[in-house]
Amino acid sequence: MKNLKNLFAVMFLIFGLALGGCATQAKVVMEDIKLPEPVMTGGMSLMEALQNRHSSVKFAKDEIPLQQLSELLWAANGKNRPDGKRTTPSALNSQVITLYVALKDGIYKYEPDTHTLSAFSKEDIRPIIGNTKAPLILLYVANLSRQSKYLAAVDCGFIAQNVYLYSAANDLNTIFLYGVNTSALNIKLDLSLGQEVLFAQLVGLNNKK
Ligand SMILES: Cc1cc2nc3c(=O)[nH]c(=O)nc-3n(C[C@H](O)[C@H](O)[C@H](O)COP(=O)(O)O)c2cc1C
Repeated sequence: MKNLKNLFAVMFLIFGLALGGCATQAKVVMEDIKLPEPVMTGGMSLMEALQNRHSSVKFAKDEIPLQQLSELLWAANGKNRPDGKRTTPSALNSQVITLYVALKDGIYKYEPDTHTLSAFSKEDIRPIIGNTKAPLILLYVANLSRQSKYLAAVDCGFIAQNVYLYSAANDLNTIFLYGVNTSALNIKLDLSLGQEVLFAQLVGLNNKK
């Protein structure tokens, strides 16, 4: 009887180690992405981009090329000055919004200081948003321990409009969303106390059909 117990204990240990090993492997496979430098010259005029701005969920199947993703994120919330300030204004310069970038392959966090996507998880969370066709979902995560929800939402609006204008100028479609299951997303992103998903924004190449 005692031998049987020992056998179960050993099997339990081996199974646990195997599971642990798988979890570690899943994390290691995903790597941070250093984004290419955004191209700052050329492109559509601001007036033309404003003329072209609109919401749309007509996405082509293709992924957004890395160069465009880099420029979109820089336009959204990138560093544009040596003092670390950004392309978008921020109430009291509190910078409480972090953009999580959900792609087919997993979720990354956008780091404006290094213009890098830091790997977060391999999960495809697009089904939670209810749109599995969007190649890119931006999740607006606010740190509400440092700022009111009211002012954090205003900061989100500025970021979102930059995403709209970059999209309008670069043949991307986008839509900003309040109506998403933020409770489920908060859990998936393993957010700490005071952090919340406030909005999402879908982006993809324009499906011209
Ligand atoms: C704060 C805010 C929240 C929004 N939430 C949603 C949403 O939950 N679902 C949706 O389909 N569109 C949403 N939209 C997009 C609007 O429906 C869209 O901007 C509006 O219809 C005007 O269309 P346009 O952006 O093409 O001018 C939201 C827009 C804003 C500014």
